[in-house]
Amino acid sequence: MKLLNKSEILSALSKHPIGRGTEATTYDAGRYVVRVPHTVKIDKAFRENLSNGTYNYQKVDNIHGRRNFGQPLYNLTDPMSGTVMLSVCKKVDGITTNDLVEEPLTTKQKSDAMAVAIEKMRIMASAPQKSYRRLVDDLNHLAGTNFTIDPCEGNMLINPTTGRFYIIDLRPVKNVRNVGDLILLLLTDIPDMPDNAEYFELEQKIVNKLMRAAQSCGLSVPEQLKLKPRALEVIKSEAARQLYKNNYQNIALHTHSK
Ligand SMILES: Nc1ncnc2c1ncn2[C@@H]1O[C@H](COP(=O)(O)OP(=O)(O)OP(=O)(O)O)[C@@H](O)[C@H]1O
Ligand SMILES: [Mg+2]
Repeated sequence: MKLLNKSEILSALSKHPIGRGTEATTYDAGRYVVRVPHTVKIDKAFRENLSNGTYNYQKVDNIHGRRNFGQPLYNLTDPMSGTVMLSVCKKVDGITTNDLVEEPLTTKQKSDAMAVAIEKMRIMASAPQKSYRRLVDDLNHLAGTNFTIDPCEGNMLINPTTGRFYIIDLRPVKNVRNVGDLILLLLTDIPDMPDNAEYFELEQKIVNKLMRAAQSCGLSVPEQLKLKPRALEVIKSEAARQLYKNNYQNIALHTHSK
């Protein structure tokens, strides 16, 4: 692994961020991304410490092998407090699969949210079956680690060219997640969504592909088979909801082998 040098990090931090979440801001650094917690101020002192090599380099254990969860590869920590000042992470090339849509919504905001969701769903619905299998395989892999999914908006990306999904923003806690959590990462939850034939059709295609993948891969631990009422809330069409409910119980449980 070729590390980023100080000037590459500084130059990444001087650009407009590619993402801002609740906990950190992410900057593009070419081969990698740099993630800075909101608690860290990118000021003169920070830049100086970075250039002077004041921060400690701390390699992160490679738990995920060649999988890409946008995971940190190494951190730079403050030598006094041990606080992580920034992380250099694997880069994922893609767009978020879903977005946070919060009420109250104006009619215009709702129709814009629908248009964006439909555009993203078109991409997801045409992604190859293999992409969904990889997703279930990622879920199985995580069940055997001390990392878990944070099933919130913006924590999954899709590469529109390859149709491949990437779960990002893992949490270091042993908390096994299920297929329903993948639904929460895939679909945008639009409150009081009006009837929309295309939306419903795309939703059905996506849920169908996910369920087929889960059937063919099986799940590796029983907790992954817990039905998620929240997932049923996010699914809007009756047809897709039935598809999820009917197939969910039939997903085989078998030990996942690599
Ligand atoms: N490794 C990465 N490669 C590409 N883009 C990324 C990567 N990590 C983060 N991003 C972008 O930055 C956004 C926010 O990142 P992330 O979810 O990691 O931040 P967060 O502060 O933990 O957010 P939240 O807690 O709200 O989920 C993502 O939605 C994505 O667009
Ligand atoms: Mg996030």
